[in-house]
Amino acid sequence: MIATTGSAGRPAAASAPPDLPSAARANAAPAEPRPAAIDRPRQDFQGKAALITAGGAGIGRAIALLFAERGGVPLITDRDGEQARAVCAEIEARGGKAAAMAVDVRDARQIRESVAAADALPGGLAMLFNVAGINIPKTVETMDEDEWESVLAINLTSMYHSCKHAIPAMRRRGGGAIVNVSSIAGVLAEARCGAYSASKGGVILLTQNLAMDHGQDNIRANAICPGSTRTPRTEGYWRQSPTGKSEMAELCPLKRSAEPEEIARPALFLASDEASYITGAVLTVDGGMTAGFRIPTFDRL
Ligand SMILES: NC(=O)c1ccc[n+]([C@@H]2O[C@H](COP(=O)([O-])OP(=O)(O)OC[C@H]3O[C@@H](n4cnc5c(N)ncnc54)[C@H](O)[C@@H]3O)[C@@H](O)[C@H]2O)c1
Repeated sequence: MIATTGSAGRPAAASAPPDLPSAARANAAPAEPRPAAIDRPRQDFQGKAALITAGGAGIGRAIALLFAERGGVPLITDRDGEQARAVCAEIEARGGKAAAMAVDVRDARQIRESVAAADALPGGLAMLFNVAGINIPKTVETMDEDEWESVLAINLTSMYHSCKHAIPAMRRRGGGAIVNVSSIAGVLAEARCGAYSASKGGVILLTQNLAMDHGQDNIRANAICPGSTRTPRTEGYWRQSPTGKSEMAELCPLKRSAEPEEIARPALFLASDEASYITGAVLTVDGGMTAGFRIPTFDRL
């Protein structure tokens, strides 16, 4: 049935029964629908705590700031405790809540203690963002054994330790979400970065294993694969090799590197209830860098 509309194109008010007093008749008209508030800041992480490794700078810092802005309480850990505390102070100065702790992810004991500290925050440990990662750009032939072990320890083994302790805590609370930061180097081999690529590829399969083994605990695990992102690390490379930034941009369909917030937002999406049916996913956030390849001849035809 087609609804009849009044002169202003709105549905006509149903006429009130004739025996009602005039005030009641006026009240019988349906109220104008109120426009939905759209300027209310999202608070979808209210009541939740998260552990963030390497939260003192770059992508980890951006995740911490956004998580707190949306009502959550992050435990910001970093090898550099000063940096972790500075991010915590930044959040508190903006009216949010956070905690900070010096944690070197090469140390299994420190990781275990940080998981316990995050679980002791109000709401308990709901989310784990494994962000810590380093790159030592060398071929396998030129890389020392110590360097290899260091890259694997920070990028991959640290995630084994944090997940090992976070999973029982999340299970006790009925579930949780894990977001592991891999890289496009975990999807495609990055030349001269054997240890980095191997570790980041390992992160992807570790994440998918977590998804397989702990879906039944209502724990979701997803990997995010950033492309080139402006952080202290990349800015360091670009200082050493000043054409590096524009060369990197040229490889990317969007012709620029990401800002850390552009990685933090999809990372938070994966952790949020909006992604409630997403687990074991590998989300590339790379400005299209791994979308395809270019045949130079075709550009000239
Ligand atoms: N920046 C990029 O272009 C890019 C691209 C793809 C993937 N990633 C990944 O994103 C993650 C974050 O990278 P970023 O560029 O933001 O980092 P970054 O190198 O700028 O450093 C971020 C933080 O990591 C901390 N850190 C370093 N070693 C640590 C350790 N052993 N224990 C604890 N903290 C430690 C540092 O103190 C620093 O505060 C890494 O896993 C990296 O591999 C970055």
